[in-house]
Amino acid sequence: MKLSEVLNGPSLVVFQLLEQCNLRCSMCYEWGENGSYHQHQAPAILDLQLVLQTIDDCLPSKPRFEFFGGEPLLYPNIWEVIKRIRDGGCELAFSTNGTLLEKYAQQLVNNAPTRLWISLDGTEASNDQQRGRGVFKRALRGLSALSALKKTTGNRYPEIGITYVVTPANVETLECFFLEHIDLDMLSCVRIECQSYITREQSDAYAVLLNENFGIPHTPCASAYVRDPAVFSGMNIDSLTQQMQRVAEACAQRGIVFHSQPNTLVADNIQHYFSANWSLMRDYKNRCAIPYF
Ligand SMILES: C[S@@+](CC[C@H](N)C(=O)[O-])C[C@H]1O[C@@H](n2cnc3c(N)ncnc32)[C@H](O)[C@@H]1O
Ligand code: SF4
Repeated sequence: MKLSEVLNGPSLVVFQLLEQCNLRCSMCYEWGENGSYHQHQAPAILDLQLVLQTIDDCLPSKPRFEFFGGEPLLYPNIWEVIKRIRDGGCELAFSTNGTLLEKYAQQLVNNAPTRLWISLDGTEASNDQQRGRGVFKRALRGLSALSALKKTTGNRYPEIGITYVVTPANVETLECFFLEHIDLDMLSCVRIECQSYITREQSDAYAVLLNENFGIPHTPCASAYVRDPAVFSGMNIDSLTQQMQRVAEACAQRGIVFHSQPNTLVADNIQHYFSANWSLMRDYKNRCAIPYF
C-alpha cells in the first residue's frame, strides 16, 4: 500500500535527510553544547531508495516538501532527490548553514528548489561566536554567488530567505546585521526565531510522561533543549523588540515576507518567552507536553 493512501494524501512531507553536520553551533539542539546527536554512535542517514519511493508515493497529493538535517547539502544524493520532487511539480524548501552555497550555487540554480533558508546569526563576530569561525564570510560569499547567478540566468528559484536565531550572544546585532550587512533585495523572506528552549522541570515531566505512557526510558531530544531561563535575564528585551520591529518594517517596505517566533512583536510577549512564562504569552500553545512547542 502506498504511503499517500494510508495518510490520505499528506500536504507537507519533511525528510530529515541526515544527522551529519560540518558545524557545531553553540545553541543547536542537535550538535550544540547539549545537543542530542553527540550521544549517537554514528550519525543516521536516510536511505536514498526509501526517500525516492516516499516521494513517488506522495506526489499524487502534491504536498510541499521540506528537508531537515544536520546539514542537508551534505546529503550525497541531494540533487537526485531535489530533481524528483521538482519534476513531480512540488515545492521544496530547506534550511542550510550556508557553508556549501558557493560550491553548489550552480546546481542550486539548475535544480531550483523553491526556497532556501540560510541560517545566519548576526554580524561577523556574533555569528561566528555562535556558529563557528569563518562561517559568516563563507555563508555571505555563498549568498552573493547564488544571488548573482539567479540574476544572470533570470531564474526565480531558489528564492532566498535568512533565518536568525536570537540568543544572548547576538541579541544586540540583529538590526545592524539585516540593515547594514545584508542586501535585503536578495531576499524573499526573513525569519527571526528566539532561541528554542525548555526548563529542566519541563524536560523531567516530559520524560516521566513518555516513560509512563509509552515505556520510552530516555528523552535526549528534549534534554537538548534545556536551558536555565536565567541565561536570558541579561537580554535587553525592549531593544530586541524595537530591532525586530525595524527589521519587519524594512521587510514590509520591500515586499519581503517577515515571520518571527514568537509570533507577535510586543515586548511583554517576548519577555514572557525568555523568562519561561509561556502561559502568559499572547500566542501561547498548549497542545503539547512541552508547552510552547
Ligand atoms: C537544526 S538546523 C538544520 C539545518 C542547517 N544545518 C542549518 O543550520 O540551517 C535548522 C535551523 O534550526 C536553527 N536552530 C538551531 N538551534 C536552535 C535553537 N535552539 N532554537 C531555535 N532554532 C535553532 C538553526 O539555526 C537552523 O536555522
Ligand atoms: S549548522 Fe545547523 S545542524 Fe549544524 S550545528 Fe549549526 S544549527 Fe545545528
